[in-house]
Amino acid sequence: NTGKLWGARFAGGPSPELEALSRSTHFDWRLVPYDLAGSRAHARALHAAGLLDDDELAGLVAGLEALGERYAAGDLQPDPGDEDVHGALERLLLNEVGADLGGRLRAGRSRNDQVVTLFRAYLRDHARTIAGAALDLVEALADQAEANLGAVMPGRTHLQHAQPILLSHHLLAHAWPLLRDVARVRDWDARAAESPYGGGALAGSTLGLDPEQVAADLGFDRASPNSLDGTSARDFAAEAAYVLAQMGVDLSRLAEDVIIWVTAEFGFARLDDAWSTGSSIMPQKKNPDIAELARGKAGRLVGSLTGLLTTLKGLPLAYARDLQEDKESLFDSLDTLAVLLPAVTGMVATLRFDHDRMAELAPRGFSLATDVAEWLVKQRVPFREAHEVAGACVRRCEELGCELADLTDDQLAEIDQRLTPAVHEVLTVEGSVAARDGRGGTAPVQVAEQLAELRAVVADH
Ligand code: ARG
Repeated sequence: NTGKLWGARFAGGPSPELEALSRSTHFDWRLVPYDLAGSRAHARALHAAGLLDDDELAGLVAGLEALGERYAAGDLQPDPGDEDVHGALERLLLNEVGADLGGRLRAGRSRNDQVVTLFRAYLRDHARTIAGAALDLVEALADQAEANLGAVMPGRTHLQHAQPILLSHHLLAHAWPLLRDVARVRDWDARAAESPYGGGALAGSTLGLDPEQVAADLGFDRASPNSLDGTSARDFAAEAAYVLAQMGVDLSRLAEDVIIWVTAEFGFARLDDAWSTGSSIMPQKKNPDIAELARGKAGRLVGSLTGLLTTLKGLPLAYARDLQEDKESLFDSLDTLAVLLPAVTGMVATLRFDHDRMAELAPRGFSLATDVAEWLVKQRVPFREAHEVAGACVRRCEELGCELADLTDDQLAEIDQRLTPAVHEVLTVEGSVAARDGRGGTAPVQVAEQLAELRAVVADH
């Protein structure tokens, strides 16, 4: 006997090279509590099918509990000879309860249905934690939006001055995508709540075990309707990887704005000391490392998704060992977001905005030109013409080296008779912002309403 799960058929043990390649305990050991829970549920299914008596069930459950306690205490370790967490736990269970009893547990299950069920359970638990951390960031953005309500800033497209907006409007524009990511986790979770346990290696079991019982025992909504699909599908993992990657991308876009805002050239915001870093050589430096790490780590989150999809694309049904490659990148994505989200939340919560600086820049770049054109439209001028007239105003300002609001009544009339002095009403940032008062617009009343709407969605989670 080689001590492996499959000893008898082989003349000798595997080569060290194969063992080194095959071993997964260094990354799947975190599944121990899930494997033990699966084993407990499986023991109950064996008992319900009459394949374990009451004493045997109690003995196995006690042995599994003992292993769980050792794991929690940090003194349960795999051996170098263990291929994966499942084999290691069988070996350890045999030590706990003896080979006769311990050797009964593997009946009717395979590592193929085991691992995918445990992986689903692990992802579901941890994705919920990540969603909670994302909600904390949404709230930090909402708090900043509330605290800075009324402050204006230059709104940009193509990174060029476009139209003045409220800072709160911009902050909330980063909160909504994160809130959608949280909703995606919830939608995904409902789909992932399916247990393949009982599918065996691929075809199910002859032993009369009830997969629905195991599913309910493990907190799933239902058992897989198809054992081949259950053991070999990993779209649940790819979908999770997508949601996590999307979160990474959304964090990265927020981070990029912060990086720009805290430059001397923009000067819109300052980072708190505890949430920024210095330089080892330049004593004056204050760097947005959290934001840069967010931007950088988005790359590896996207990599997890593309890596997994690429692993899956050519695989025939059912289980193949390639599928073992599903875990490391997903674990990494969860681990990455678990440290990233609280750091970004702290950075956002402690940002201090320079309202004067933003207000000074808000009308620059002729950002009120659209207001001139729309004012003319309200005087019944066709927009095509109004656009031309406002464009002529901008050209005149460039010649004179002034802003739109600086044009005199005469200069305006010279450009177009229809530009009466009344146009000055709309040539203020406050007026421009307040006028955009339809749903979703940047007017203070709308942004206040938007904030309340966002808070209500958050409270719903
Ligand atoms: N450790 C493997 C995985 O993560 C499960 C083992 C399945 N091995 C097998 N020979 N069928 O996918």
